[in-house]
Amino acid sequence: MTRRVIVAANWKMNGDSALVDSMISGLSDMESSNVEVIICPSFPYLSDLNQKIKAADLDNIIQVGSQTVSKFVGGAHTGEVSTTMLNDLSIKYVIVGHSERRSVYNETSEQVASKVHAVLDAGLNPILCIGETEAERADGKIESVLLSQIQPVIDEIGIERFSDVVISYEPVWAIGTGKAASSAMAQETHYFIRQLIAKQSKQVAANISLLYGGSVNAANCEELFAQPDIDGGLVGGASLQAEQFKIICSAA
Ligand code: G3P
Repeated sequence: MTRRVIVAANWKMNGDSALVDSMISGLSDMESSNVEVIICPSFPYLSDLNQKIKAADLDNIIQVGSQTVSKFVGGAHTGEVSTTMLNDLSIKYVIVGHSERRSVYNETSEQVASKVHAVLDAGLNPILCIGETEAERADGKIESVLLSQIQPVIDEIGIERFSDVVISYEPVWAIGTGKAASSAMAQETHYFIRQLIAKQSKQVAANISLLYGGSVNAANCEELFAQPDIDGGLVGGASLQAEQFKIICSAA
């Protein structure tokens, strides 16, 4: 089984209707390839983007994802969005456990695991974000930190179902800084993550897609994506410009 190659855009709390329209026109000449291209806008733009992708006949190339989701399927959860609603809008992917959700909104790895479970149960594709801070790397804690973020998910859903999860390794110190991990450092960490999983299932480890995120851009994407254990990227700032995002997608 060949691993899924994915390039996903995380717009974060950026963008507006104009960006939706400029992205549709900027990507209108994108050609189909083996790369799964996903764009994850903020909630208000999910439906508009999805409908305009379909109207432009790009839905065989580009899918839409959500940046987070509730673990509950509905009810008295003010302000939340459920997997039921994402399915209603034909949204297929969900980013779960982004470092900003963990640091700013205090999402624990156990809460992240519950959300991954809910996403899988809804028939959606989870992109599980993991990554260490600069201090954790400096203190030599990177391996224990990554394990602490992965293991609760495996405990929650089981190792066999973990093969349905896409992992995005995003060193926190590379997010939004313009200072991506070197391709060597990223490859070394991706290899470690794959070996960590291999201790529980060699087959899952071989088949799971590991994306890199953290200041990916048109200049560094080719070298990053050429690494044997990097299966694509999760792109923030550079995904807000259609031309750059197109270059990054074509490099995967
Ligand atoms: O989820 C991807 C994001 O955290 C990376 O952001 O701006 O460093 O590409 P950026």
